[in-house]
Amino acid sequence: MKITVVVGTRPEIIKMSPIIRECEGLRGQGNTDLDYFILHTGQHYSYNMDKVFFEQLKLSEPKYNLDVGSGTHAEQTGKILIGIENILKKERPDVVLVQGDTNTVLAGALAASKLHIKVGHVEAGLRSYDRTMPEETNRVLADHCSDFLFAPTKRSEQTLIAESIPENKIFVTGNTIVDAVYQNLKIANKKANALGKLGLKEKEYFLVTTHRQENVDNKERFKGILTGLQEITKEYNLPVIYPIHPRSQKMISTHNLQSDGITLIDPLDMFSFLQLEQNAKLVLTDSGGIQEETCILGIPCVTLRDNTERPETLDVRSNMLAGVIPEDIVNCVSVMIENNKEWKNPFGDGNSGKRIVDILEERL
Ligand code: UD1
Ligand code: UDP
Repeated sequence: MKITVVVGTRPEIIKMSPIIRECEGLRGQGNTDLDYFILHTGQHYSYNMDKVFFEQLKLSEPKYNLDVGSGTHAEQTGKILIGIENILKKERPDVVLVQGDTNTVLAGALAASKLHIKVGHVEAGLRSYDRTMPEETNRVLADHCSDFLFAPTKRSEQTLIAESIPENKIFVTGNTIVDAVYQNLKIANKKANALGKLGLKEKEYFLVTTHRQENVDNKERFKGILTGLQEITKEYNLPVIYPIHPRSQKMISTHNLQSDGITLIDPLDMFSFLQLEQNAKLVLTDSGGIQEETCILGIPCVTLRDNTERPETLDVRSNMLAGVIPEDIVNCVSVMIENNKEWKNPFGDGNSGKRIVDILEERL
């Protein structure tokens, strides 16, 4: 069996790493039936959005990198589509694996499907029901041209069934982010010194990330978020640490926004970020992966969005939707700080990577 593992952005590298590890492990045990290679689209390319994760997670180099870089949705998706088709025609893998909801995922799934190569969608069945998000279009289309839909939870399986996807294509595997967190947390705590470097004390700071197009490209929404963060740092007299995504950094200048009182730092490596997450008083984010990670780590989360495709986090009450109005953000923070933090992680047992590779070995 030959697997193509497609990655393009930071979260895809992190969430594919347990599958790559599983493939490497099987190869290391002398399993000659299994062959795999990594195809990187180059959607993310800055060192701290890309290579740092390959180094830290000890992943082998991608066999191909399309170096597509940034651009409009059509430019980026189109370049990836053309680049992936060429490689797939040459390599003829048995299955192409894509993860999540980025432009890389849509292009990878579409190119493979048109060549009649099987597509496996890792993290299938998530829905925000908000078509203004580019990610919603990507995930719906990727699901509907996939042959293996690896749903993280029963709930995502039900969503797919309700969209008439045949049940025999759907496999509830858990989310590979649980594997990635469990595999790296101990090492992160041993190796990282993010608290020390930033002069922070456990539970005495807030951690923030934002990068959603509908938030940061919209001046009013981004301003609402920054104002909310400024109010929080004043009200609690605690630092707000914001490792800022390059898109958001660019938008702060474009919109000429003020971030006084908020500690902006460059995007962090995975170990440093995990350590900051685990020790934060509370995390505010519009990231998908971080809503999951906080839920797994037992850290309260306030989501700076009007909806989420991770409703499991709302069900277990690890997360609350605040939107972007400063007063609502402050209120949600105060509710979540008081809340019970003893929820159960709904995203699986940390063996999703193995489960996915086992399913493919069995069926192909
Ligand atoms: C993309 C995904 C989003 C995902 C996020 C993970 C799409 C539509 N969006 O958003 O779903 O949550 O990745 O972080 O696929 N840039 C750099 N260096 C980089 C990458 C980007 O400076 O390595 C800057 C460029 O100015 C670029 C901007 O960030 O124009 C946005 O990058 P892009 O890949 O288009 O989207 P993301 O916002 O990163
Ligand atoms: N992350 C990181 N450093 C940072 C911010 C995030 O390593 O400075 C990791 C985080 O632990 C999570 C992933 O990046 O695993 C989330 O990626 P992102 O928020 O960019 O994308 P999304 O999950 O929203 O698609």
